[in-house]
Amino acid sequence: MTILVTGGAGFIGGNFVLDWLAGSDETVVNLDKLTYAGNLQTLASLHGDARHVFVQGDIGDRALLAALLAQHQPRAVINFAAESHVDRSIHGPGDFIQTNIVGTFNLLEAVRGYWTDLPAAGKAAFRLLHVSTDEVYGTLAADDAPFSETHRYEPNSPYSASKAASDHLVRAWHHTYGLPVLTTNCSNNYGPYHFPEKLIPLVILNALAGKPLPIYGDGQQVRDWLYVKDHCAAIRRVLDAGRLDETYNVGGWNEKTNLEVVNTICALLDELRPRADGQTYATQITYVTDRPGHDRRYAIDARKLERELGWKPAETFESGIRKTVQWYLDNHDWIKGVTSGSYRDWLNQQYGA
Ligand code: NAD
Ligand code: TYD
Repeated sequence: MTILVTGGAGFIGGNFVLDWLAGSDETVVNLDKLTYAGNLQTLASLHGDARHVFVQGDIGDRALLAALLAQHQPRAVINFAAESHVDRSIHGPGDFIQTNIVGTFNLLEAVRGYWTDLPAAGKAAFRLLHVSTDEVYGTLAADDAPFSETHRYEPNSPYSASKAASDHLVRAWHHTYGLPVLTTNCSNNYGPYHFPEKLIPLVILNALAGKPLPIYGDGQQVRDWLYVKDHCAAIRRVLDAGRLDETYNVGGWNEKTNLEVVNTICALLDELRPRADGQTYATQITYVTDRPGHDRRYAIDARKLERELGWKPAETFESGIRKTVQWYLDNHDWIKGVTSGSYRDWLNQQYGA
């Protein structure tokens, strides 16, 4: 059996591929465009492993997708591929429209073509799992209930609007064409292999480099943090047993303000790698201009996933953030590759031109 993963050289997709092959011998075909966010060094431990087939390409390339699907006959497609950084979407929304909306449309059409021609048993067993975000629901006030699956879509950034559009396309391809789809909407992830322009890895690496720790606005925005391996476990569970055309919210029950997150990281670094001058890393905190349209609070009600499929996060924020900080202290080569930009040469270095 085989699964096709898109965006499997990114943060969550990369963790998913590693975890999948640690627990299964089912081949993973990994289609990734290798944008700035795609990093094959994350998958270096799989080099030479016949269970991992890497293909550099775009989910918008319908002909390539059709060829891969015909060749590998996957029983499932899991779509991680996306432009994912809100700040980048504010500076340049075009790539978000192209990959997250047009790309998802092309993926759906290629998968529909493949699925339509499958024999009855394969057709019934096939799944397309679309990985999405809680940001499609917009923002919450401090005393609002967390987002449930029936919360209205109210996206506020070009990123979240493009993800919302992709969710709607996935839903429509089920209702109109019967494509067997599942959608997960997850809260903010953190953990190993996270590209250091997102808050948590940025703060760890800036702290160690003696640089400022930038807090947007007043730092009181709330995110519901989930350790990435818990997210990967939730996706495996939904793929195994999720009800067709259902959406499942995935979250960690870990609401923290950004300032709390940054102070927690500083305290862990003070313990694990104290500054030479004896001062706390928290002295590097710097308040900077807020992000335009910054959503104030995200929080996920993950009870449906627990009730129907028995999934619960294994990590608390305290255990997960400690593992994450330790991972960044221990993985110099990966960090050097990312911070120097040399990870972008990895494909040529590793596989030849
Ligand atoms: P990421 O930016 O780290 O990785 C995205 C990957 O997709 C990269 O490897 C990139 O090269 C690839 N990619 C981009 N455009 C592509 C295209 N057109 N064709 C093929 N590959 C392409 O993102 P991530 O944080 O790993 O997020 C993965 C998915 O999970 C995204 O769909 C995102 O919206 C969703 N999500 C992320 C979070 C989070 O906190 N990071 C939370 C909830 C949902
Ligand atoms: P981010 O990791 O970009 O995720 P998202 O915007 O998708 O939630 O940011 C997490 C939170 O941290 C968000 O409220 C913005 C804030 N933030 C900062 O305060 N400073 C920073 O330098 C970054 C990158 C983010």
